[in-house]
Amino acid sequence: MPASFPFTTPRSLDDEPEAQELLASGGSVVPASMGPITIWLALSYAACRQVLTDPRFSREEATRPGGPVTIPSGANPLVLTSMEGRKHARTRKLVAAAFSPRMVATLEPRVQAIVDSLLDAGPTDLVAGLCVPLPTTVICELLGAPYSDAPDIRRWTGRLMTARLTPDELREAEHDMQGYLADLVEFKRLQPDDKLITALVAVHDEGGHLTSAELLANLQLLLAAGHDTTVNQLGNSLLTLLRHPAEMRRLIDSPALIDTAVDELLRFSRLMAATLPRVTTEAVELDGVRLDAGAAVLPIISAANRDPSVFPDPDRLDLGRADAAPLAMGFGPHYCLGAQLAKLELRVALTSVLKRFPGLRLAVDESELTYRMETNVRALVSLPVAW
Ligand code: HEM
Repeated sequence: MPASFPFTTPRSLDDEPEAQELLASGGSVVPASMGPITIWLALSYAACRQVLTDPRFSREEATRPGGPVTIPSGANPLVLTSMEGRKHARTRKLVAAAFSPRMVATLEPRVQAIVDSLLDAGPTDLVAGLCVPLPTTVICELLGAPYSDAPDIRRWTGRLMTARLTPDELREAEHDMQGYLADLVEFKRLQPDDKLITALVAVHDEGGHLTSAELLANLQLLLAAGHDTTVNQLGNSLLTLLRHPAEMRRLIDSPALIDTAVDELLRFSRLMAATLPRVTTEAVELDGVRLDAGAAVLPIISAANRDPSVFPDPDRLDLGRADAAPLAMGFGPHYCLGAQLAKLELRVALTSVLKRFPGLRLAVDESELTYRMETNVRALVSLPVAW
């Protein structure tokens, strides 16, 4: 039977058995139906990496009308993830300049202080008590948005992350979020600060490279994708640790493992099956399979992260593993711009939870955990714990 995407994997699973089975049965690149279109699934680590780095696999082509779409808000042609080549490099440089590693490094004490104050109450539901407020507070502070706007930001983000939106619903969701951001941009012009929106406004005003529409679309990307991913990856990582008490104990006893642990949890604890689709600009060979020009291709990073030729014994969680970089944050020119920030938050949050609550355990039966079904990402509704 031909494969089809999205997979039907239950949200509760850390892995993606359907994709792993396809890879194991010999195909590192296989065709699948995605609604009315045929899309090639890149399943192996090597195939995914080629799709993410080889310029003949184009995001720009994939965002043209009629192109493959896995999440409607991801098809906006104005955002970084939809650009290619020189245009992408130029825009990314502008955004990255405002979002420098130095800016992120100076955030560490603040991230620690936020985590400490969230944990002071004693965790009961880690989703509501830590996973949602930490990245939301951090992204608001980084951009220079008032935290009192967080409930609206979460609501708009929830709509933008919805997997099936009509064009009208998408327009309305973008209109609400970008209307808010346009007001904030005007405010920052009058009262500049040392935060990211002010820095991007300066880039926009001086360089003339970012149009107003590009500025707003990319701020939306930073605000929405820039915190919802971390919210859910943190929840999934905590659940994975609770499911592997011996590995959790290992991390409690050896906190210096935290960097490899964060990477291993990104590899092992699936956030999403695939990253954004690409379309070939010319005929190309992908891991031995010849694709025509105009072929839609989907990098199945969840399968690549369990590719046994790169990660020996891939279904074993090993917090000391250092085999290869997981593809959970992409690879190549579109590699996650927020990776350092997200890893900082994961590192500080996981270290602090385990240090303060080494007896952490689930307070309900695992079968009672539920997930948000309207989104493509694996998103726990709550994570009730005792300690
Ligand atoms: C654990 C959390 C995160 C995960 C798993 C994640 C995942 C990803 C992935 C897979 C991509 C590559 C998309 C592709 O090439 O198809 C990406 C790109 C991106 N991410 Fe993240 N992300 C996370 C956190 C963040 C944060 C915190 C921010 C910003 C504050 C952010 C901003 C971006 C941006 C702007 C891009 C586009 C880069 C480009 O196209 O050049 N992400 N992310």
